Amino acid sequence: MDYVEAVEWLARRAGMDLPDEETEEEKRARIRREKILEVMRLAARFYFDNLRSPNGKAASEYIKKRGLSESTVVEFGMGYSPDFQSLPDYLIKKGYDLSTLKDACLVSDADGRIYDFFGERLIIPIINAKDQVIAFGGRTLEKEKQPKYKNSSNTVVFDKRKTLFGINLIKKLQQQETVSDLILVEGYMDVISLRQAGIKNAVASMGTSLTVEQCKELRKYTNTVYVSYDGDAAGQMATWRSLDLLAAAGLEVRVLTMPEGLDPDDTVRKEGYEGYMRYKSEALPLVDFKLRTLASKYNLLTADGKNKFATAALEILAALDPIARDVYVKEVSRLSGLAPDTIKNSLEDGMNVRAQLPRTAERAEEEPRTEINARLISARYLLSAVFAGKEFVKVTDIKEEHFDYAPHKAIGEYVLRCIAKRERPLIGALYNITDNKEEIEKVINAAASVPADAEREYYQKCIRILEKSGLQKRKAELLEKIRLSTDPEETELYKEELRKLLRR
Ligand code: GTP
Ligand code: MN
Repeated sequence: MDYVEAVEWLARRAGMDLPDEETEEEKRARIRREKILEVMRLAARFYFDNLRSPNGKAASEYIKKRGLSESTVVEFGMGYSPDFQSLPDYLIKKGYDLSTLKDACLVSDADGRIYDFFGERLIIPIINAKDQVIAFGGRTLEKEKQPKYKNSSNTVVFDKRKTLFGINLIKKLQQQETVSDLILVEGYMDVISLRQAGIKNAVASMGTSLTVEQCKELRKYTNTVYVSYDGDAAGQMATWRSLDLLAAAGLEVRVLTMPEGLDPDDTVRKEGYEGYMRYKSEALPLVDFKLRTLASKYNLLTADGKNKFATAALEILAALDPIARDVYVKEVSRLSGLAPDTIKNSLEDGMNVRAQLPRTAERAEEEPRTEINARLISARYLLSAVFAGKEFVKVTDIKEEHFDYAPHKAIGEYVLRCIAKRERPLIGALYNITDNKEEIEKVINAAASVPADAEREYYQKCIRILEKSGLQKRKAELLEKIRLSTDPEETELYKEELRKLLRR
């Protein structure tokens, strides 16, 4: 919980009124959320009870067929919606109006009648870390029926992009034991089935591709994520995108390879706890996984295949820090049969910072020849974009550490002060900040020297250069600190930070 949520929770528990800094509008919104949560819980209870009633026979048989035990069903609060009328009837009799049921995404209406949104489906409640039922997934019992799953749409209590299925159980688990890593799967049934087999640290994204928000959520609970998708997901771009997102969120990523066509549920049912854990112990670190996958796509017995593989691999290598790069150059050499020096040389050509900035006629004379130069030009353009009020500038892009050059430092500090005060930075103020008129002109003009259709891309490249070289700088600083430090505890802290940076 964040601070405000914690205060609210404690106040309610103690039977106190909430602090009345809440505006009328906030109060209405809160009451609406509470109403929706209330009706969600009632619906979950209704479905849960139905599974055990005579109406729930088909669903119980389905559950049995899938090998799920009664205690698993209870642990996940699974249920059944017997038809399309019972739930709406029940909730309306309890006094809830149609708009509440609709806002909760529990019903849909057609030709003047309302229907249970999850009618005739097995119900899987989606529960957040605060143990609130915020959504449902509903699965058909029959193979033929489409769609296989129906999920709640977003509501005032449910944001698909931020939600991970199973996170409530992870939170409980962490109260009992140290959870060293999480397993990320695709399906509800994977989480449920793994847990029944004794593998309790799995969570699922919500059927759509993984989001940045979900990665941040994962990061709250762990440093290491084992990605466990279907056996044939490895080569898919969507998978690679998810892996990069996880790594970008600062997570250490390992990828499980499972038999072709099987998902974690199938695998653990077939091969049991030990079988699945063996795949987990053989999981590959992100870069190894990518290289291995690439290698399997090309015919490495032909010269053409080797060449294509090496070209694709270079892109992966270029994103690594120097130490890791060295290690993986050897791996690419081993897989492709190309000499390590050949690979290194191509890498250096490709990584020449010159190539990182798009060429524009106006900037030709200023093309960066060194990394320091690229950093300087990037910082200047960033500041220029701020003063030009470009809409693609994000406040979080502006960081003190991006600016090395004294006039830029002073201007950057001014911009950050303005942001803190929620004021617009003014060009006129620049002349009070530094005496370097020449640099002020450059900062003012830089934004206008990039053509409008290229400026977004140009801006993003500048940010990447600043971030990347900032990272290198921090690494160098840490190495120096480790070298000079005499306190083992302190050294360990530096080393830990360095390890984290090296993983990025
Ligand atoms: P089972 O067939 O029950 O084992 O499903 P699964 O858990 O193996 O799920 P699958 O790999 O087929 O899909 C992964 C996830 O995608 C599911 O848990 C759902 O969240 C989502 N999903 C699957 N099919 C559909 C669908 O038809 N519609 C929607 N909206 N989501 C789906
Ligand atoms: Mn499955």
